[in-house]
Amino acid sequence: MNKKTEGINQEITTKSFLQEIIETNITRRLIPKSMSWFGCMGGLSLVAFMIQVITGVFLMFHYIPSAKDAVPSIQNISHNVPYGWFIQRIHAVGPHIMIGMVISHMLRILFKGIYRRPRELHWVSGSCLLILTLFMYYTGSLLSVSNSDGRSAIPISYLYAIHVAGIPMAMGLFMGLHFFMIRNTGISEPL
Ligand code: HEM
Repeated sequence: MNKKTEGINQEITTKSFLQEIIETNITRRLIPKSMSWFGCMGGLSLVAFMIQVITGVFLMFHYIPSAKDAVPSIQNISHNVPYGWFIQRIHAVGPHIMIGMVISHMLRILFKGIYRRPRELHWVSGSCLLILTLFMYYTGSLLSVSNSDGRSAIPISYLYAIHVAGIPMAMGLFMGLHFFMIRNTGISEPL
């Protein structure tokens, strides 16, 4: 076999390997008819969290965490930075939708009794995730109105550090636990 044919064969094998992964994990997996919107809320909460992280990283390039400059920097993002208004709106509206999704996810588990053995720790780690999501919302809302109006005694630089690093790292840790345990037990109504 010459070098050219060898290269083509290698390309075909890589392509079919990737194709196999995509087909077995995505395209050949059909959503069961019995699947309800409530059943998707855990996954959608994760998507909402990822959107908040991505838009938040964009905002970090322009936001200034000081009592004097916080509000003007948000105005700068909304009026002068290309697509800044769009990213800022998504980051500000997203948490309302995410909180709704996390609470719907929790209510489904509560009413179906899925929190019982062997899923007690899924419930505990999930409750910590709900509390952390609410803290994220609270610290974020204080960053946007600036502390100069006396709404919070905590300096804006502290709130900023908690909002962009402290709480997201804790959420990452609890999500890791949540997903590790879900992998161990499997979900109650497998897809
Ligand atoms: C940021 C918040 C959260 C995220 C991203 C998240 C994500 C997920 C995902 C992707 C699943 C697997 C699919 C599913 O059953 O929906 C799941 C399952 C589960 N979650 Fe959450 N969750 C969160 C919050 C919560 C809360 C607040 C609770 C309850 C207090 C909770 C309790 C559970 C339980 C018990 C399961 C297992 C369900 C089953 O076996 O069918 N989670 N979660």
